Amino acid sequence: MKILVTGGAGFIGSAVVRLAIARGHQVVNVDALTYAACLENLASVAEAPGYAFEQADIRDGAALAQVFARHKPDWVMHLAAESHVDRSIDGPGVFIETNVMGTYQMLSAARHYWEEEGRPEHFRFHHISTDEVFGSLPADPSVKFTEDTAYDPRSPYSASKAGSDHLVRAWHETYGLPVVLTNCSNNYGPFHFPEKLIPVIILNALAGKPLPIYGDGSNIRDWLYVEDHADALLLVVEKGQLGRSYNIGGENERTNLELVKTLCAILDQKRPKESGSYADQITFVTDRPGHDARYAIDPSRIRTELGWRPSVTVEEGLEKTVQWYLDNEPWWRALQNRAGVGQRLGKG
Ligand SMILES: NC(=O)c1ccc[n+]([C@@H]2O[C@H](COP(=O)([O-])OP(=O)(O)OC[C@H]3O[C@@H](n4cnc5c(N)ncnc54)[C@H](O)[C@@H]3O)[C@@H](O)[C@H]2O)c1
Repeated sequence: MKILVTGGAGFIGSAVVRLAIARGHQVVNVDALTYAACLENLASVAEAPGYAFEQADIRDGAALAQVFARHKPDWVMHLAAESHVDRSIDGPGVFIETNVMGTYQMLSAARHYWEEEGRPEHFRFHHISTDEVFGSLPADPSVKFTEDTAYDPRSPYSASKAGSDHLVRAWHETYGLPVVLTNCSNNYGPFHFPEKLIPVIILNALAGKPLPIYGDGSNIRDWLYVEDHADALLLVVEKGQLGRSYNIGGENERTNLELVKTLCAILDQKRPKESGSYADQITFVTDRPGHDARYAIDPSRIRTELGWRPSVTVEEGLEKTVQWYLDNEPWWRALQNRAGVGQRLGKG
């Protein structure tokens, strides 16, 4: 299939592009190359015959119309977004523009193209979203997000993603656009931009800097290896039922403090300090305003209906991730110079 992937120069998008090319699909990567983008993530596929890159902004309807007309995709996988919660606290405007208005422009361009082409049956518009649209869970481990959980977004980021989810559903109900949606838990793995928790911890540890834990570190996240997410996304765009959403998670709940201690233990083994443990660098800092207490996904639907399973445990995935950062210093060094990276953002 020919897949138009938006945000393919980002963390998850690049994993989707690499996997799609490896599976024999053609890919058109549409990305504006914001601060979060890195074309190096695609070095392994850049010369592949099935790969094309279009630098375009999803807020630019005219540019999107040209991209659709030129490439005539079979499927759209829409990942382009502003994705960092802390940045959404300091500057929510661009989150609304890109995540809400950009998704509207994507839907308009996709609908126009799909209608011009005679409404091909195989066409899909897949919106990639987050579990953060569901808000925050209580501590009770039996309570998890299902596809029927009511939306309750609490940060500008999650509110903008909730808005875009609603638009995608509306284009299905109103115009019949063939859509599928996914809501995924926190991803981690290779090529994770060095402003997110896991790379920040690994890179600060190696630099001998404090390892910042927001609040008391009790916030729980459900971690999924990015390549397993990419695998799930390709399954949903191919086999998902139209108009349906699928929750994707790794069933790997960890408090932030547990996660950071695990990363420190892996680093202690792989690159021991002269004395002591990396965990000695843990420092508790001011909490994020409105910091959601717990996210946890019930992935029963994608497991039972589509047969998806993650391929690695969180221990295996974290081990691979730490090793990747140890082996790829030039990649992350270059990104550490980008605006805002390494600074505490989103204190409110
Ligand atoms: N990271 C996670 O843990 C996670 C979890 C669930 C869902 N998601 C969703 O997955 C998607 C990808 O997340 P990510 O972590 O890879 O993000 P990212 O920030 O690493 O990458 C986003 C990409 O989108 C591009 N982009 C941003 N604004 C654009 C615009 N206006 N026009 C065109 N391109 C633009 C950027 O250049 C970048 O390449 C997002 O929609 C996010 O909401 C992320």
